[in-house]
Amino acid sequence: MITGRDEVVALLPAAGFGHRLQSDVPKQYLELSGGSVLDCTLRQIRLVPAVGRIVLVVSGAEINQRQFPEDVLLTAGGDTRADSVRNGLEYIRTQLQHDGLVLVHDAARPCVRVADVNRLIDEAGKSEHGGILAIPVHDTMKRTDDNQNITATIDRGNVWRAVTPQLFMINPLSAALDKAKADNIAITDEASAMEYSGYRPRVVACAQDNLKITVPEDMALARLILSSRNGS
Ligand code: CTP
Ligand code: MG
Repeated sequence: MITGRDEVVALLPAAGFGHRLQSDVPKQYLELSGGSVLDCTLRQIRLVPAVGRIVLVVSGAEINQRQFPEDVLLTAGGDTRADSVRNGLEYIRTQLQHDGLVLVHDAARPCVRVADVNRLIDEAGKSEHGGILAIPVHDTMKRTDDNQNITATIDRGNVWRAVTPQLFMINPLSAALDKAKADNIAITDEASAMEYSGYRPRVVACAQDNLKITVPEDMALARLILSSRNGS
């Protein structure tokens, strides 16, 4: 484990409920493949050599009710994903006194490939703008009206699906998320907060199988992806 100035601290938001998955328990605690969704995600992040410490943001209720692995640090989340990330960043700044890079990764993305995370750190870790993993769009993209009738075909050149991990220096990221919140701007990923503050994060292409478990059929798909791999 790396500690000190050069380490990357991983921040995993895991304080959502997973309403779209329609399960009785939050989706990150459902059994996936030799462990829960969260266990599988942690397994991948632990394999990233640059990552020293891992901070897990969980709901206040879960902190006391569940057992969490001993190598992760815990803090409580908020009402939205952006609030949970802000809480996690505050913990990393104040409790860990870390002022370097943070790697924000959804607990609900257990299929992320270690090689892709390593490339993100290599390609975006030295820039103040930071960067994110993203998937190039291969399908023809359509815009519709509210009745689902096509109104335009969108040029898919330079169009990407933003995923996680997303990598930034902690201080500009915290300031950007605070500014977006103060201005009442809805933020669904860290990059959009950075963009709102004038940064131009880099996208680093990753494998298409870095899916976010969101709807019930994603569980079977994630199991298929993980079982088809041997190792990372
Ligand atoms: N998350 C969080 N705090 C919240 C909401 C979401 O930490 N208040 C986390 C989730 O646990 C998940 C990640 O952010 O790991 C991505 O969010 P999403 O896939 O939307 O998960 P949920 O919000 O749990 O699912 P849903 O939107 O279907 O309720
Ligand atoms: Mg959500």
